[in-house]
Amino acid sequence: MARLTLDAVTRTFGAFHALDRVSLDVRDGEFLAVLGPSGCGKTTLLRAVAGFEKVNGGTIAIGGRVVSSGTEHVPPERRRVGIVFQSYALWPHMSVAENAGYSMRVAGAPKEEIRRAVAQALAVVGLSGFEDRMPAQLSGGQRQRVALARCLVQSPALVLLDEPLANLDVHLRASMEDEFADFHRRTGSTMIYITHDQAEAMALADRIAVMDEGRIVQVASPQELHGRPATAMVARFIGGGLVLPGEARATDGDGACRVRVLGLDVRARCAGPVPPGPVQVALYPRDLRLCGPEGPGIDCRVTRVVYQGGEFRVELVPEGAPGLRLTLHAAESGRPAPGDAVRVSIDGAWVIPGP
Ligand SMILES: Nc1ncnc2c1ncn2[C@@H]1O[C@H](COP(=O)(O)OP(=O)(O)O)[C@@H](O)[C@H]1O
Ligand SMILES: [Mg+2]
Repeated sequence: MARLTLDAVTRTFGAFHALDRVSLDVRDGEFLAVLGPSGCGKTTLLRAVAGFEKVNGGTIAIGGRVVSSGTEHVPPERRRVGIVFQSYALWPHMSVAENAGYSMRVAGAPKEEIRRAVAQALAVVGLSGFEDRMPAQLSGGQRQRVALARCLVQSPALVLLDEPLANLDVHLRASMEDEFADFHRRTGSTMIYITHDQAEAMALADRIAVMDEGRIVQVASPQELHGRPATAMVARFIGGGLVLPGEARATDGDGACRVRVLGLDVRARCAGPVPPGPVQVALYPRDLRLCGPEGPGIDCRVTRVVYQGGEFRVELVPEGAPGLRLTLHAAESGRPAPGDAVRVSIDGAWVIPGP
């Protein structure tokens, strides 16, 4: 178990910044998800922490000890970091027990000690009795559990998982999510879980670090990322927020202000005082409502109505802004039909504090 600290870590490939001054503090025993679109630098971050990738600047410390900096580089085998990859990376010609005990065998540990450690690790991942099976005789989920056991045998201070469920079908993913949560509870290890799937990140982690183009743009709880996105990218990427230009009018104090957006005066939430002038505003489906023709609202045309578990998702195009797509949720009764002309009120919004 160990705390992980990254301070302004930079990794370049030529002129390209794969990691751009990444700072992150992961508590001892925490389960943190790193979430971001493909190509944003997640695997590079993980490889830098594991020691497979050198850094150009900044420092990485595990358990208070600097393992990477511009001048220092502790090799991977001396970092006590376990990694679980998307592709399991099991040896096909080795049994479950041989795969799990591989690192100890290479390190020259006594047979009996290896046997005991492997039995213990297989018990943790629920594979006792599978010692002699070959990888080809296992399901995808079981293979991933062997990979977890192999990582556990090294008694790592830190466990890194790089999209470990990306190769599994939807059913299996949900049950493996439980397994990872269980694994974390039982071992108490510090875990960094990388994914591009926000549902997975939210199901597993208390805190999520969102990455975008080599940077960490926000580290927060799932609720915070949904309700108070720090940047336009976070608003769009998490929860499908619509980001629109607005005009701040006045701050009311207490995290509230007034903005003009889509021609309406809206009471919005904000992170602090907002000086009058142009701002970016995030609107979520929960902020929009169908309203009567009298009150202030946006005249729209309904383009699509889709049933979505208990309610309907209504997609609309404003008459005055045909390039825009709005989405709101409606109950079965009173839901409109495609082609209907309706009026939509904006009951809330969030002023994005960053770029
Ligand atoms: N060895 C490398 N040489 C050049 N570019 C690389 C190398 N490794 C990664 N990159 C680039 O860095 C960016 C981030 O890659 P990666 O960390 O794999 O993203 P992710 O895991 O989020 O999909 C990508 O644009 C990728 O092409
Ligand atoms: Mg990757």
